[in-house]
Amino acid sequence: MSTQVDRGTDGARIARVTDPSSLELRGVTKLFGEGPLATPVVQDCSFTLESGKLTAMIGPSGCGKSTIAFLVAGFERPTRGEVLLDGQAVSQPSHERLLIFQETALMPWLTTYENVMFGPKMRRAANKDTKRRAEELLERVGLREFRDKYPLQLSGGMQRRAELARALINDPKVMVLDEPFRGLDAMTRVLMQEYYSALFEEGGRTSLFITTDIDEAIFLADRLLIMTNLPARVREVIDVDLPRPRDKEEVLVSERANEIKEQAFDVLHEEALKSFAGGNKAAADFVEAYTRRQETTD
Ligand SMILES: Nc1ncnc2c1ncn2[C@@H]1O[C@H](COP(=O)(O)OP(=O)(O)OP(=O)(O)O)[C@@H](O)[C@H]1O
Ligand SMILES: [Mg+2]
Repeated sequence: MSTQVDRGTDGARIARVTDPSSLELRGVTKLFGEGPLATPVVQDCSFTLESGKLTAMIGPSGCGKSTIAFLVAGFERPTRGEVLLDGQAVSQPSHERLLIFQETALMPWLTTYENVMFGPKMRRAANKDTKRRAEELLERVGLREFRDKYPLQLSGGMQRRAELARALINDPKVMVLDEPFRGLDAMTRVLMQEYYSALFEEGGRTSLFITTDIDEAIFLADRLLIMTNLPARVREVIDVDLPRPRDKEEVLVSERANEIKEQAFDVLHEEALKSFAGGNKAAADFVEAYTRRQETTD
């Protein structure tokens, strides 16, 4: 994979991927448990993360999204089927496919800068170039002044930005983000969405963004994968054909965004009802939220 370096509007140095990768799940089934007790969490699931596109995955709570993130990142192996990165089977974790979790994974005993340099150090790739790149990324994510602070001294939003820098320094071919903004307060969450959207637009890196928030998914994505209730499969693919660069206030009130949202809600509501009927209590929140929403829009 190669990158081309440009200057952003604010003068910051930005690296744009010139030949982004694509990743495919082909007929993937994942069983947990042994023998007759084995149950499928993912079943015959196929989709493609298109080159240079941001694909958002959305589905009922507990439907198997994180399991898919682990399969893409190579932490889990499929029981059946294949995960292919540019046509090659993925068999283990690698800095080529980086996963950002909903919980911070920053090392509390390392400074922000040391956390960003952690990946290159582990790969014995720490050199003048990566050190310079770490400084640039810290500048890019607005953390230059916090380079020597420890994670606990950073706010929630700053920690997520440090995580983004920590992932980007490894130049991953695919970025996998599993509900990265869950748990942030509403205001910080919106700021992080805008921030991440800009970062994605300038980098053009193939990405999978997992979320349970439809507005977040539509604002960020080029395509939505709507998942079934457990076991997970793609139930519907919706193209988010909204222009970029996106401004949250403008984009989400557009007619097209509303159409996409209705379409997504209908499918999700059905899946959440199935999940609730199947005993998943967490789905009740979603069913209730959707019902309340319908009452206010009817
Ligand atoms: N290692 C494992 N062994 C057995 N069962 C597992 C394992 N990992 C996950 N599961 C089960 O698989 C199901 C799906 O879990 P997963 O975390 O993938 O869902 P999710 O969609 O990410 O949920 P959430 O919305 O809560 O993040 C759950 O019922 C979970 O208990
Ligand atoms: Mg999850």
